[in-house]
Amino acid sequence: MPLRVGLVVLIPFGAAAVGDASAQVSAPEYEGWRQYSVHCARCHGQDVLGNPVAANLLESAREGGALAGQDAFVAVVQAGRPDRGMPAFAGVLSKEQSGAIYAYVKGRADGRVPAGRPARPPG
Ligand code: HEC
Repeated sequence: MPLRVGLVVLIPFGAAAVGDASAQVSAPEYEGWRQYSVHCARCHGQDVLGNPVAANLLESAREGGALAGQDAFVAVVQAGRPDRGMPAFAGVLSKEQSGAIYAYVKGRADGRVPAGRPARPPG
C-alpha cells in the first residue's frame, strides 16, 4: 500500500523535474515564459524555481501571496524596487509583456505550468 501511494506522488514530480516538452500553455503564458527567461530568470531562477539573490516569485504569486493579483505584480515589475536590487522594467517591457510574465509566473505558482520549455501554442 505505501509503495502505491509513493508511485502516484513520484510520477508527476518526475515529469516536472525533467520538463514536459508537450505542456500546453496559453499564448500569454508562452510569451511570458519567453520574456521571463530573458529578463527575470538570472535573478529569480530558471523556471521560477527560486534563487537566493531575489524574492521567490512562486510564493509571491501564489493564492494569498504578497503579489497574487496581476495589477500589484505588474506595478512592481514596471516600477522596480531599485533601492533593494529589483530593477524597473518600465522602459524595457510593455504592460502587456509584464502581464504575460505574470500569467506565466501565476501558472507556475498554481501548478498549471510545469518547469521546462512549454510547447508553442497553435496559431
Ligand atoms: C538584477 C536582479 C533582478 C532581476 C533581473 C529581476 N528581479 Fe525581481 N527582484 C529582485 C530582488 C532583489 C527582489 C527583492 C526586492 C525586495 O526585497 O523587495 C525582487 C523582487 C521582485 C518582485 C516582488 C516580490 C515580492 O514578493 O515582493 C517581483 C514581482 C519581481 N521581482 C518580479 C520580477 C520580474 C517579473 C522580473 C523580470 C521582468 C524581475 N523581477 C527581474 C531582483 C531582480
